[in-house]
Amino acid sequence: MKELLANLKTQALVEIEKAKDSDALYQVQVKYLGRKGELTNLMHGLANLSKEEKPLFGKLCNEIKVALEGAFEAKKQSLSSSEIEDKLKNSWIDVTAPGQTFETGHIHPLSQVQYDVEQIFSSMGFAIMDGPEIESEYYNFEGLNIPSWHPARDMQDTFFVKDEGHGNDSAAKKKHGRLVLRTQTSPVQVRTMEKYGAPLRVIVPGRVFRNEATDASHEHTFNQVEGLLIDKNISLADLKGVMQEFLTRLFGREMKVRFRPGYFPFVEPGIELDMSCTLCGEKGCRVCKHTGWMEFMGAGMVHPNVLKAGGIDSKKFQGWAFGFGLTRLTMMKYGIDDIRHLGGGDLRFLEQF
Ligand code: DAH
Repeated sequence: MKELLANLKTQALVEIEKAKDSDALYQVQVKYLGRKGELTNLMHGLANLSKEEKPLFGKLCNEIKVALEGAFEAKKQSLSSSEIEDKLKNSWIDVTAPGQTFETGHIHPLSQVQYDVEQIFSSMGFAIMDGPEIESEYYNFEGLNIPSWHPARDMQDTFFVKDEGHGNDSAAKKKHGRLVLRTQTSPVQVRTMEKYGAPLRVIVPGRVFRNEATDASHEHTFNQVEGLLIDKNISLADLKGVMQEFLTRLFGREMKVRFRPGYFPFVEPGIELDMSCTLCGEKGCRVCKHTGWMEFMGAGMVHPNVLKAGGIDSKKFQGWAFGFGLTRLTMMKYGIDDIRHLGGGDLRFLEQF
């Protein structure tokens, strides 16, 4: 029995050593230590031995079992590390293959120009204001010196909201009228005057809405920037300086502005402001119809009636206001020829910026 066990041990150790891979090793393990393995069978046979022999061989069997288990474990370790090495040797990595790209979004061109505008005006001491897109008729028109009978209302074909939004408050109804989708950012002028009084220096970027037939240069929804400066001893010369500086910084080259007379009920006098052609300077080209100038915005000295609506004493303070199309400015800055691209959400267009 002793000899049998000794041979079994030697034989098993030889086979373990010879195993070429973990599959072969597993077969050896089953052969000796499995449920019907050779050592297991011998151990079952211990029951038939005499009382004296039993503990002796029992102990021996256990020692062999432990020794074999140790040998299996050691061999398993060495096989698996060399198998990994083989795998690495036989497979390869192409370090020149292009990596996986992750798409990142970016700011919409309209927002980018808005940030630029805000940054320049902030640096000149203007605060940035916001106002509601659903506005009362009062702030959108009456407060800006445009009563209901005024022909200027026809210039801004307006979306009206069905619900007037005043409930049973007849005084509010009388003053504020119906609710509209604001047709311009100008209503924030009176709102800001009411809230902060004079002096005042603000710009108001925002969305406005008009019942326009859509084409390459008209949309029902577009963006404007309103400007308002109120203080003592203010004149249009200050407006000229501010706008010249603003445009020069926005376009990154010397820009000039010029005034022409214009009419808006909320300013007196009213002007149209032209800027140097963004394409040719003031030389004249196809885009500026050979004038060297491009129409940029409406502006003027704030009408005393508007100051009054905002609770500001027009004997003590005066100021100017302006309004330009942020959408149009973005189109000019980037040479975009159709306004519908900006709100269309087409990635083929947006990814070009
Ligand atoms: N709100 C005018 C428009 O949408 C633009 C405008 C003109 C604004 C003159 C002004 C201004 O503040 O003074 O056509």
